[in-house]
Amino acid sequence: MAASDVVEKVESLREQIRHHNYRYHVLDAPEIPDVEYDRLVRELQALEAKYPELVTPDSPTQRVGAKPIKAFGTIEHRLPMLSLDNAFSEEELRDFHRRVVDRLELEDGGEQLPYAAEPKLDGAAVSLLYVNGALQQGATRGDGTRGEDITHNVRTIDAVPLRLIGSDYPETLEVRGEVFMPKAGFEAYNKRARETGEKTFVNPRNAAAGSLRQLDPQLTAERPLDIYVYSVGVVDGRELPDSHSEVLDQLQEWGLKTCPERGVVNGIDGCLAYYEDVAARRASLSYEIDGVVYKVNSRAEQRELGFVSRAPRWAIAHKFPAQEELTVLKGVEFQVGRTGALTPVARLAPVFVGGVTVSNATLHNMDEVNRKDVRIGDTVIVRRAGDVIPEVVSVIKDRRPKGARKVKLPAKCPVCGSAVVREEGEAVARCTGGLYCSAQRVEALKHFVSRRAMDIDGLGAKLIEQLVSIERIKTPAGIFALEKDELASLERMGEKSAQNLIDAIEKSKDTTLARFLYSLGIREVGEATAASLAAHFGGLDSIMSASEEDLLSVADVGPVVASRIRAFLDESHNREVISRLQDAGVQWQESEPRSAPKDGPLAGKTFVLTGTLAAMTRDEAKDRIQALGGKVIGSVSKKTDYVIFGEKAGSKLSKAQQLGVETLDETQFEALLEHT
Ligand code: IVH
Repeated sequence: MAASDVVEKVESLREQIRHHNYRYHVLDAPEIPDVEYDRLVRELQALEAKYPELVTPDSPTQRVGAKPIKAFGTIEHRLPMLSLDNAFSEEELRDFHRRVVDRLELEDGGEQLPYAAEPKLDGAAVSLLYVNGALQQGATRGDGTRGEDITHNVRTIDAVPLRLIGSDYPETLEVRGEVFMPKAGFEAYNKRARETGEKTFVNPRNAAAGSLRQLDPQLTAERPLDIYVYSVGVVDGRELPDSHSEVLDQLQEWGLKTCPERGVVNGIDGCLAYYEDVAARRASLSYEIDGVVYKVNSRAEQRELGFVSRAPRWAIAHKFPAQEELTVLKGVEFQVGRTGALTPVARLAPVFVGGVTVSNATLHNMDEVNRKDVRIGDTVIVRRAGDVIPEVVSVIKDRRPKGARKVKLPAKCPVCGSAVVREEGEAVARCTGGLYCSAQRVEALKHFVSRRAMDIDGLGAKLIEQLVSIERIKTPAGIFALEKDELASLERMGEKSAQNLIDAIEKSKDTTLARFLYSLGIREVGEATAASLAAHFGGLDSIMSASEEDLLSVADVGPVVASRIRAFLDESHNREVISRLQDAGVQWQESEPRSAPKDGPLAGKTFVLTGTLAAMTRDEAKDRIQALGGKVIGSVSKKTDYVIFGEKAGSKLSKAQQLGVETLDETQFEALLEHT
């Protein structure tokens, strides 16, 4: 590189790093994954090492972080909050160890040098100041010298003691540690946020940092935050133990939480064994980590080693392979799940992340696609953490190419061509193909043959998958066309088991209407609802022709269930499957409909129930109205005769009042039932 090119490159790297520091530390909205940031820093460090004359005091390598934002009070750290150098390989770790051994002039090559070993927690660094045992101040790391006053927020974290235990603690004790959001809390938070259309967190670290930087402590209190303390800052009025591990033991005794996975190891071999052990258990830990940290355990030796600009010479972070990477979104396909839910799946330029090559990642649902504004051609951040399905977490908008295309929800199911519907208020779009859709077929078939449905013994999941994959069965009707010889010729099937299966299929044909309805796998129609439908209508034909309103008069059936049943039965593919099943000989005993007596005292009257009744369930109320010839429907109109309201009645009651429909509270309702 020519000298002028080097100068230009160094300046450009510094600019980029400054920009990303600002995004990360100040705005709390990083644009690139850590790996990419680390790469920029390392590139700059390498150049500065090669051309030391280019090092300036304002280089990002010469200081930590960026300036804190203005909304919070600023506090000055009496002792700077340092960062850690990283080792990304065994070789880099050995280099670190060698430097330690050389500086300490250890005789045996440091083979037995004790290191305190700890997981590198992936959260947000905080300082907690205890004065005479009481929590006085909480602060973020900020730029290492000045942080933000987040006392109001740290106080809301259960794991942060407001007062230390015992009486032998120092007058002034500043501890430092990591606030983090455990994996389970993070997943639950994001799941809820996705359902309610709120902003999701990109990763548990952002969740922790974002939660700490709320102006309203109430919001922080609602977040499942935790803390592990890993070092001390200012200590006045008492000596602390001689080793780092003993200091942590002591802090633990004073009521501060330290990481249970911490330990003491000897020399480089001990470090490497610790790394392997923690890496193997990483997925099962309840919190996110991105490596392990080794610290020379002796505090006297720590003092001897001292610091370089941003990090101690006595500690290093040994990082795991990155869980976030950049790649390009090549396309989006829609995968159809068991219930017909369409999941947008990102097709990616293959990228090595979290230890494997990833070329597909979930985009969850269309709300997420729109919120993240993901477009085909975009450079995206993919994350693969542990066993979790890889996901696209965000887009690098700066790198969007011209002509990047928006992602559109298909109008028809990509697998079977049936209509795709997305109900109001639902994040998920679904294929209406039901039994006809091959993606839903395997699961639907498994349900169809299950013990409490058609109860076909010997038709297991493996066999169903096999039969579906060779396209031998497409719908449940296909099961009844299977022949013994073809079954016998399948893998792992003999004459005997083929015959047994044929017998089981034959036997299953004699069933009940309730079992048959349940076996169809209509959404929201479980065993109880199927039984109510069968009892109410008595025969299949009346169910097939029942209106949504008719369905609503069945105990157990509300507006959502009624519309699901109707939608299923209106799909022509489903009707065809049903008639083919009957043609194949599936049969049951029909019975007298148990529908409302047309001549009861409440005949011709329609009722709507809302709120919670004290003396009876809604179904009981419905039964009693129907027994007297009345009809219970789901929504209020001018034609409704009565609205019965209980506790916490909602909009139906106000609508009734608006329309001038007669409303009855529970006592009035009881009286009506008594007198008719
Ligand atoms: S010690 C003087 N121990 O990593 C040493 N840091 O990359 C200061 N971190 O800002 C840090 N787990 O937020 C230490 N067991 C651990 C840690 C840890 C996570 C974070 C901490 C620090 C960053 C440096």
